[in-house]
Amino acid sequence: MKDITVGIIGGTGGMGRWFADLLQKEGYPVHVWGRKSAMDINDLATLCNVIVIAVPISATAAMIERVGPLVPEGSLLMDLTSLKKEPVELMMANSRADVIGCHPLFGPGVDDAAGENVILCPARGQKWLIWLRNVLEKNGLAVMEKTPEEHDKMMAIVQVLNHLNTISLGMALTETGVSSEKISKYATPIFQTKLGIVKKVFTESPGLYADIIAKNPDTDKILKLYEKTLADIRQLIKSGDAARLKDALVQAAGKLF
Ligand SMILES: NC(=O)c1ccc[n+]([C@@H]2O[C@H](COP(=O)([O-])OP(=O)(O)OC[C@H]3O[C@@H](n4cnc5c(N)ncnc54)[C@H](OP(=O)(O)O)[C@@H]3O)[C@@H](O)[C@H]2O)c1
Repeated sequence: MKDITVGIIGGTGGMGRWFADLLQKEGYPVHVWGRKSAMDINDLATLCNVIVIAVPISATAAMIERVGPLVPEGSLLMDLTSLKKEPVELMMANSRADVIGCHPLFGPGVDDAAGENVILCPARGQKWLIWLRNVLEKNGLAVMEKTPEEHDKMMAIVQVLNHLNTISLGMALTETGVSSEKISKYATPIFQTKLGIVKKVFTESPGLYADIIAKNPDTDKILKLYEKTLADIRQLIKSGDAARLKDALVQAAGKLF
């Protein structure tokens, strides 16, 4: 496709910057926009025929409502948000442009995104979908097309359950009152790895993880499942009978793997 100019709102940092680099490498003119940018957001929308929303989850809805009406029919409005149902619905409701939800399943720190997964939620139009798929696949990304609902359901497992587990570990460690320096002296390699993950979640982008958990439509279901699982484990080990817990692990492994 000819004459493509991309505007990335939230392109001064994180995933927006990653996407800007990818598209620039492909030869497309890319304008990144952040809150301190000199360019007016209305001018950005006029200049570009692809507008990408890549701001923090907590700012995404308001940004789509502000920018969506500025993106005309025939252009593309897309986002990189870690959740898909609400942003895609809002992009559809607030614009007449083609709409694609996009979630790269990795962070901006990856050295090379080749081989990583990306989920696309096409919502309106075909021509931009073909363009976007081509750009991503050309760079070695594994692209899957899903509905926003399917996406959010799976993210309830891959992100909500996963991060809840990390947060529970970090909170419980804090409650022990033992310092991480002292804990580290006793650590096994696997524990050290887990402590590194806790540190990343608690110190690098706590707001991102909090939004991913708080805003997923299935979070309540996942929390109930997590609480039930802990209660079941408590029952299993209450009697001090390791064999019952071991049997439960063997049974679960049979189902999971
Ligand atoms: N980080 C990840 O691992 C990851 C992975 C996949 C998808 N995502 C998604 O990517 C999106 C951005 O996340 P990120 O981690 O890249 O965030 P980030 O590193 O904090 O970058 C956010 C960008 O948005 C701008 N921004 C911040 N607050 C804003 C506000 N209130 N209004 C308008 N612009 C604002 C920032 O620029 P200025 O400060 O210059 O304004 C920056 O360019 C989120 O939807 C997230 O779910 C993130």
